[in-house]
Amino acid sequence: MTEHYFSERPTSKLKRGLVRCNLRGQNFEFLTTSGVFSHKRIDTGTRLLIESMILPERGAMLDLGCGYGPVGVVASKLKPRLRVWMTDINERAAALAEENARRNGVEHIKVRQGHLYDPVEGLFFDAIVSNPPISAGMSRVVKPLVMGAGDHLVRGGSLQLVVQSNKGGRTLLAMMESYLGVVEVVARKSGYRVLRSEKSLE
Ligand SMILES: C[S@@+](CC[C@H](N)C(=O)[O-])C[C@H]1O[C@@H](n2cnc3c(N)ncnc32)[C@H](O)[C@@H]1O
Repeated sequence: MTEHYFSERPTSKLKRGLVRCNLRGQNFEFLTTSGVFSHKRIDTGTRLLIESMILPERGAMLDLGCGYGPVGVVASKLKPRLRVWMTDINERAAALAEENARRNGVEHIKVRQGHLYDPVEGLFFDAIVSNPPISAGMSRVVKPLVMGAGDHLVRGGSLQLVVQSNKGGRTLLAMMESYLGVVEVVARKSGYRVLRSEKSLE
């Protein structure tokens, strides 16, 4: 079977790496391996998402499809009182996210491996932030991710997603509009856009 970065149990030979980077003005180090998304560097879309994500001071946040953990780890560093959940289908990614949380000295992080919202069933978040796995399939994964957000956000909570404008950008925006309502473009750069939508207060 072909292996992807979104395979549940990657079997490719483990090649370890280290990504050093500065995000939101702070230095971070992330252990990576082959078989996970963008294992040689912070992805351009991920960087834009991290630089523009709007985070609550406290409450709970979900980094869905966390990969080796850059979004959730930076969020936790910036907002130490925020409870951060990170989930990913890929068991290598989930293990790395856990290790990277420790490595960067952040607390209040919980990592769970599993499909979309399955590992956080029954929990509600003030923000759900993701660089969604477009390659895993718009209808199979991305649509359920957007549709499910309403069931996992508190009222006024937000869904924040980054997307490549010419790789599903318009479709994703239309999905967010249809399931959550008004969509704001909070950042755009190098062909990527960060989209944000809030669950209505009513
Ligand atoms: C575009 S990558 C982003 C990874 C990481 N957040 C980053 O920005 O570097 C999308 C992530 O979603 C994960 N993913 C794919 N399908 C998934 C699913 N059904 N449930 C949960 N995570 C999934 C992939 O394994 C991958 O790590």
